[in-house]
Amino acid sequence: MRLSNTAIITAAVGVGLAAAQNSTYYNPTLPGWHSDPSCIYHEETFFCAISTFLAVPGIPIYASKDLINWKVASHVWTRPDQLGLPNAARDVDYLQGGFYAPNLRFHDGKFYITNVYISPLEYQGILGCIFTSDNLYDDDSWSDAVTWNATAIDPDLFWDDDGQAYLSSAGIVTAKIDPATGEIGAPKVQWNGTGGAYPEGPHIYKKDGYYYVLIAEGGTELGHRVTMARSKNVLGPWEADPSNPVLTNNNTAEYFQTVGHADLFQDGKGNWWSMALATRSGPEWEIYPMGREAGLVPVTWNEGEWPIFSQFRGIMNGWELPQYSRAIPGRGNFVQDPDVYDFQPGGPIPRNLLFWRFPEDGKFTVSPRGHRNTLQISPSRANLTGMPLSTDKSLTGKTGLSFISRRQTHTLFSFSVDLTFNPSQSYQEAGISSFLTQLNHIDLGISRSNASSGYGHHSSPSGLEFRFRIETAGTINSTIPSSTTITPVPAAWSHGPIRLSVGTANATYFLFSAAPASNPNARIVLGYASALVVSGGSGPFTGNLLGAYATCTGAGGNSTGCPSGGEAYVGRWRYTGWAQQVDKGEWAVGSTSDLI
Ligand SMILES: *[C@@H]1O[C@H](CO)[C@@H](O)[C@H](O)[C@H]1NC(C)=O
Ligand SMILES: *[C@@H]1O[C@H](CO)[C@@H](O)[C@H](O)[C@H]1NC(C)=O
Ligand SMILES: *[C@@H]1O[C@H](CO)[C@@H](O)[C@H](O)[C@H]1NC(C)=O
Ligand SMILES: *[C@@H]1O[C@H](CO)[C@@H](O)[C@H](O)[C@H]1NC(C)=O
Ligand SMILES: *[C@@H]1O[C@H](CO)[C@@H](O)[C@H](O)[C@H]1NC(C)=O
Ligand SMILES: *[C@@H]1O[C@H](CO)[C@@H](O)[C@H](O)[C@H]1NC(C)=O
Ligand SMILES: *[C@@H]1O[C@H](CO)[C@@H](O)[C@H](O)[C@H]1NC(C)=O
Ligand SMILES: *[C@@H]1O[C@H](CO)[C@@H](O)[C@H](O)[C@H]1NC(C)=O
Ligand SMILES: *[C@@H]1O[C@H](CO)[C@@H](O)[C@H](O)[C@H]1NC(C)=O
Repeated sequence: MRLSNTAIITAAVGVGLAAAQNSTYYNPTLPGWHSDPSCIYHEETFFCAISTFLAVPGIPIYASKDLINWKVASHVWTRPDQLGLPNAARDVDYLQGGFYAPNLRFHDGKFYITNVYISPLEYQGILGCIFTSDNLYDDDSWSDAVTWNATAIDPDLFWDDDGQAYLSSAGIVTAKIDPATGEIGAPKVQWNGTGGAYPEGPHIYKKDGYYYVLIAEGGTELGHRVTMARSKNVLGPWEADPSNPVLTNNNTAEYFQTVGHADLFQDGKGNWWSMALATRSGPEWEIYPMGREAGLVPVTWNEGEWPIFSQFRGIMNGWELPQYSRAIPGRGNFVQDPDVYDFQPGGPIPRNLLFWRFPEDGKFTVSPRGHRNTLQISPSRANLTGMPLSTDKSLTGKTGLSFISRRQTHTLFSFSVDLTFNPSQSYQEAGISSFLTQLNHIDLGISRSNASSGYGHHSSPSGLEFRFRIETAGTINSTIPSSTTITPVPAAWSHGPIRLSVGTANATYFLFSAAPASNPNARIVLGYASALVVSGGSGPFTGNLLGAYATCTGAGGNSTGCPSGGEAYVGRWRYTGWAQQVDKGEWAVGSTSDLI
């Protein structure tokens, strides 16, 4: 543990001193899969929007008073019909399709989310979207989208002093836009960056008589970097910052790599900050289950000069942070907190839980009759892999998986649920999963043994079996084969809920185990798997999710759903973060929301 009393000293010195004391804190401040942050400061609160691709509810807005404790305020994408196109929510084949980098801005009393929805089928591939809200704490306040056929990703809205709005996208290309209608003027190529691949993620700011454009280049991998240019005119010509790149860990040995896709904002004292994404992988960039995470970087931006960013690291020192506070309204979760969910009658589905695309209606029921304090999961016809390219949509996963999850937000963690499940058929399966995409996941399921197909010397007096499955079809490092290991469920265990657990054996290996919920000490280990299985591969933009599922594995013979039965009841949902790795050999114990 590296806790010291910097925070206490800072608080004790208090206001009134001319020279503020700088603060020390840990990155990432939004740990776990939180890619493409875009942030603003509004009425003494910081807000950041995050990309979610196919995950639903989509595009969380996090709120913080102190830049360290971030709470879910709302989600922008909660209704399948918000794009005004009938199948938009369900017709995306690409496992990294859906909502790309959002841009969060406030203008004239309204909050704006501008981004694109990647959907190869119906909308020429890239659908531009603007959502608006007048209350960032209310899901229902988010409007249906104003949409247009876009040609580039990462749109950004900037309003000039005369009220004219400009839309800038990857390229970097800018056009006038009427945000109320999506009507777009002639595009102008603004700046190509400094020669890195994929100039993208632009944001325009106006300061001291200059327009500044901040962009990402080099791709979102090891070459990722932030560069800037400025102009006296919103449509150029642009002069590149001689110090470019202004922020990157490319060609360093830093533990945090892929640093880029940044946004800039000011705090209440006028100090500048940036949020950017990064990956805890080291330059070997091989095992990084949490994917692209978001962290905070102090920026010094003096009048008329170029901004100077601190290097993105796990242990940071910079401007004095605003005073510690968790006084954020609403029933959201703080991103670093544990999950302690018992699904009491009348309770909501907790707001940090995610689905993989919109689930079918009625698949999730909190505390159903006869199964108080559980979450009922009715099976989806598609299993967690499905057949992504099948012409039968119910087998693809596009009509929704009966899978509910939370992000892995700590290097070392444990996750468990108590599963009540009484399958009568071997095609009925329920369990837990560590899931990156449909082609990269690790599952521990329970099903009925299929005696006549035989399991060699295994016999299962309970009639039930554990299935420990490693799905690596989408894994880059194909040295790990897909596999399923069958273990009989002990006879005495079948009378009550079974606790299924996944946790980290160490920073790179997950361990799956089970125990009768009534006797957790009788735990048996069912398998180990490398976190490589859920790093990159078919999920380069997303990150590991931990959750529970139920499926009928394609049974039913037609597209209308599973044969009846096979409901799973998930109780005592627990996630605990034990430690964060913040540098090579450096660990923060517990939550990174503890100030150093
Ligand atoms: C967008 O493209 C689709 C497919 O080409 C077309 O049907 C639709 O009319 C276009 N929408 C607009 C607003 O141009
Ligand atoms: C950007 O690159 C394109 C294609 O190479 C070129 O046509 C254009 O002039 C460049 N624009 C700027 C502003 O450098
Ligand atoms: C730095 O970025 C370049 C691409 O711009 C990439 O080819 C290279 O591998 C990166 N170097 C390291 C050490 O990450
Ligand atoms: C405080 O942090 C800012 C932002 O990183 C930096 O510019 C400044 O030099 C620091 N001051 C001290 C006294 O370390
Ligand atoms: C065993 O179960 C599988 C489905 O999991 C099914 O396809 C197969 O027909 C079953 N075999 C027997 C002999 O029942
Ligand atoms: C990836 O595969 C290579 C062999 O191709 C192997 O040497 C390496 O250890 C593997 N990496 C991991 C993390 O398993
Ligand atoms: C992590 O745990 C796995 C499984 O027990 C083991 O094979 C591996 O050597 C461990 N790695 C380290 C760095 O301890
Ligand atoms: C998953 O579902 C697909 C499509 O129904 C099926 O082909 C495959 O065998 C299933 N996989 C498992 C492990 O059950
Ligand atoms: C299709 O499946 C549903 C659900 O299992 C069942 O109710 C229905 O009878 C089936 N229809 C046909 C034509 O088999």
